[in-house]
Amino acid sequence: MLRLWLSLVVGLLAFSGSVHAIGQATAISFEQSSSSFPIVSNDIATPILLSEDEWGGVQRAAGDFAMDIHRVSGVMPLLFNVTTPATQSNLSLVGARAIIVGTLGQSSLIDEVVNNTGIDVSSVEGHWEAFLTKEVSNPLPGISSAYVMIGADKRGTIYAMYDHSEQIGVSPWYWWADVPPKANPEIYAASAGCAHGSPTVQYRGIFLNDEAPALTDWAMVRFTNGTGAPLTGSPFNHYFYASLFELLLRMKANYLWPAMWSSAFGVDDTLNQPLANWYGIVMGTSHEEPIMRSIPVEWTLFGDGPWDYSTNKANIYPFWVEGAERAKPYENIFTVGLRGDGDAAIAGGQNIQLLEQVISDQRTILSDTFPGVNVTTIPQMWCLYKEVLGYYEDGMTVPDDIALLWTDDNYGNMERLPVVSERNRSGGAGVYYHYDYVGSPRNYKWIMSSQLSKTYEQMSLTTARNATRIWIVNVGDLKPYEMETEFFITYGWDTSIWNYDNLDTFVTQWAQREFSLSSEDADTVAGIIANVTRFNANCKPELLNATTFSLTSYREAQNMLAMWEATNASATAIQAKLPESMVPAYFELVYHPVQASYTLAHMWIATGLNNLRASQAFLSANDYADLVEYLFEEDWNLEVQYDSQLDGKWVHMMSQTHTLYEYWQEPYSNAMPPVSRQQPYKQALAGPMRLAVEGSQGAWPGDNQYNCAQGYGCPNPTVTIDPYVPEGNRYFVVGAGGPAPFNWTATTNVSWLALSPSSGYVSPSASEQFVYATVDWSQLEDTPSVTAFIDFNATAANQPMMSQQVYFVANYTAAPSNFTGFVEGDGVVSMEAAHSARNTSVNGITWTELPGYGRTLSAVTPWPRGGDELNFTVGTGPSIGYDFYTFNSINGNISVTAYVAPSLNSLGPDRPLAIGMQIDSDEPQVSYYIPNSTPGTLPDAWSQWVSENIVYVPMNFRASPGAHSLTVWMIEPTVILQKIVIDTGGLLPSYLGPPESIRV
Ligand SMILES: *[C@@H]1O[C@H](CO)[C@@H](O)[C@H](O)[C@H]1NC(C)=O
Repeated sequence: MLRLWLSLVVGLLAFSGSVHAIGQATAISFEQSSSSFPIVSNDIATPILLSEDEWGGVQRAAGDFAMDIHRVSGVMPLLFNVTTPATQSNLSLVGARAIIVGTLGQSSLIDEVVNNTGIDVSSVEGHWEAFLTKEVSNPLPGISSAYVMIGADKRGTIYAMYDHSEQIGVSPWYWWADVPPKANPEIYAASAGCAHGSPTVQYRGIFLNDEAPALTDWAMVRFTNGTGAPLTGSPFNHYFYASLFELLLRMKANYLWPAMWSSAFGVDDTLNQPLANWYGIVMGTSHEEPIMRSIPVEWTLFGDGPWDYSTNKANIYPFWVEGAERAKPYENIFTVGLRGDGDAAIAGGQNIQLLEQVISDQRTILSDTFPGVNVTTIPQMWCLYKEVLGYYEDGMTVPDDIALLWTDDNYGNMERLPVVSERNRSGGAGVYYHYDYVGSPRNYKWIMSSQLSKTYEQMSLTTARNATRIWIVNVGDLKPYEMETEFFITYGWDTSIWNYDNLDTFVTQWAQREFSLSSEDADTVAGIIANVTRFNANCKPELLNATTFSLTSYREAQNMLAMWEATNASATAIQAKLPESMVPAYFELVYHPVQASYTLAHMWIATGLNNLRASQAFLSANDYADLVEYLFEEDWNLEVQYDSQLDGKWVHMMSQTHTLYEYWQEPYSNAMPPVSRQQPYKQALAGPMRLAVEGSQGAWPGDNQYNCAQGYGCPNPTVTIDPYVPEGNRYFVVGAGGPAPFNWTATTNVSWLALSPSSGYVSPSASEQFVYATVDWSQLEDTPSVTAFIDFNATAANQPMMSQQVYFVANYTAAPSNFTGFVEGDGVVSMEAAHSARNTSVNGITWTELPGYGRTLSAVTPWPRGGDELNFTVGTGPSIGYDFYTFNSINGNISVTAYVAPSLNSLGPDRPLAIGMQIDSDEPQVSYYIPNSTPGTLPDAWSQWVSENIVYVPMNFRASPGAHSLTVWMIEPTVILQKIVIDTGGLLPSYLGPPESIRV
């Protein structure tokens, strides 16, 4: 790949002032300088010249470019075809200056300009999609100066113009996300221009998939008279696609797999295929749709007999011939191979032999369709999806010129990538990736739930392994994934620009481009996006349930809610600052995703609290039930708000159901999670006051199955605390057990325990109150363990005083003053992987932080990835070390669990991922934690890993209380370590693991 302008691009990445373009060399300014060329100056727009023989797609995009100049400046440049050879007379309307646009070898005008000026085009000529722009003198008779925009090919020229459009202030999303163009009366281009070589990834595209209900119903309203295509009912006609093609080209994408659920691109609208080609979009079909025909839609309409090549070749073969003939005039990548009907495994047994025959026949069809063309030069792709990967691993081969499309596991983890011996195929390799998915363990198709840091990490791996011929990402309905989609394409456009430590600048530049924010506010938006995608990636919204986050351990649910509240507050504060013109874009791209995700997460946590309080005989269960109902309504209100903005421009776009999944498939309606209600008239059996304690699902006084193992006649509750409990205190909940209001007090028999508040009033309208207990440890330094009593007394009118006693145990512990590191609290040590004490490189490879990656803070991974040959036996590779101090053990043992990302064995079955861990100087242990499975299938535990977005790698070590070190050893590359949890006997169940321990 050409990297001619790398240094220029990187040098210009530090933007100042207003940002209009993301990660690219900018040529545009809005003030004149001695080295600039006027595009619009003094209300005059410089005319744009084209050649009549230019590509239609370039002619069309030039119209957009002229319109973009008008959108920004209010002045419309003239657009001319110049007949060559150009003369003074056919240029008489032009004046002394012009913008001249053209494609090498296709524009007789640009050939003439190159000839007249001697401009050096060697850097772009023959380089796929490359372009250059610059000011030249005397290019044509009577024109003293021109800004030339020269593309190596059709899309090179188109990208040159759209690149400038973005720089002058027209977002690729100006229509698709309502981003207002940034007004500027004057526009100048640097005389030196700008340039880009061939993109890193040759074909960069998206797949519209699982596109009902949202995209389908929206497009039906927006682009049809309400009926859709005659044969399929599809709304995806050429009006829809024209709009999409423009967006793709503005993002510098070039490749599309069209909607195919109940659509057939070539049938729904016969203008679809020619229009794509005219725009400059390379069409493909998905992994399961060979030879440019929509499967199963077209087969159902036009096929005869079963979709089984072993018995029905007589009908399937001519069906493909038609597909090839129909696509012949256009630019395509032909999908080869075969899957069964409905995206299932191939029918007909004897699969490898049959599939080899299929591909051989498909090659014959292509040869016959393109007589005189060497079939190896026709772009073809074979997708190694699910069982097809198994055939490949079992030894099936295809001709070398067919690109192999490797796939992720549908959850963003590449299953396999080319190993060294697979990297020199002439057809190259590519990747099929997912931001949206329908299938087991659960669909995710409602709202953004993929982290940029993970996309970067996986796609940079893809780049390192040379799978850069094709990148395609499943974007579902497209609409809620705008920024992630643009990142995927932008990264493929030039992977050299982006790195693990500058991803945030992608988001800040994006926020500045879309909303004209200050850099400070753009940072805030980057934080908001990082949070919302982190929270939604931790547990896809579709997978949330009432007990996802622990309601009793580590205040996990409360903390989750507090983080959501803070994120929502930031998003609201930014919205309040925006001019009205920015509000729709901000709503669609930031505010709605935050509000909607927060509302859903809140609803689930409130449901959990409702269920818990109901089981505890707290009247407050009813308040949580009310809250759930309110949030359920709110969820609908947000959908309505999205639907009704801009006079219904996006009606139905947020109609995806999402509130209560029962299994992998989407629910057919939004339903409220089940809640319980207490009879509000009747007092709980044990009296007016209920008491719950932190860490327990039980409730006192009286019986509850969680109060003790026996479930009845249990002792009073015991609560323990030590100085290194991260929360710093413990709480109790005093609640109403019925309609009777009461006054309560909490008293203790010791001076070292403080209760806040220590009295209060509980009633049906203020139905529960949290009480926090804090210890003055300075009074306990000489007493390792001491128990206090807390008495909760309640007085309700006309009832005897009731009371409940609690044992409160304070365990004094102290790490020696000369110790630095993490200290056990609450029976665990929890450490963020990035918070290491030591880090030792080997062969230039270092455990390096990937900021923002994963579930809690970040992750570390061996970086750079180095040659794939590079792996280590335990104890010889790069290591990262941690210091911790324990007070307890489990019979002399500790259990150390590494929390790692659910990456898969992408180096193939003979190189499974592995990690080594060692305590002090004891024998290190190694875990090959991703077991190999039958090729083409995933390990049994995979569902759980991707649902929880984590893999737990536990090891047991002998370690008596005291100071210890943990060393994590690199064995294999691409292991992504997020967090380490050491259980010394107190580990409680939770979703994200215990909060980070105190560091001294
Ligand atoms: C230039 O010529 C082409 C080909 O005839 C035509 O399609 C296009 O509309 C013309 N452009 C202008 C600006 O006249």
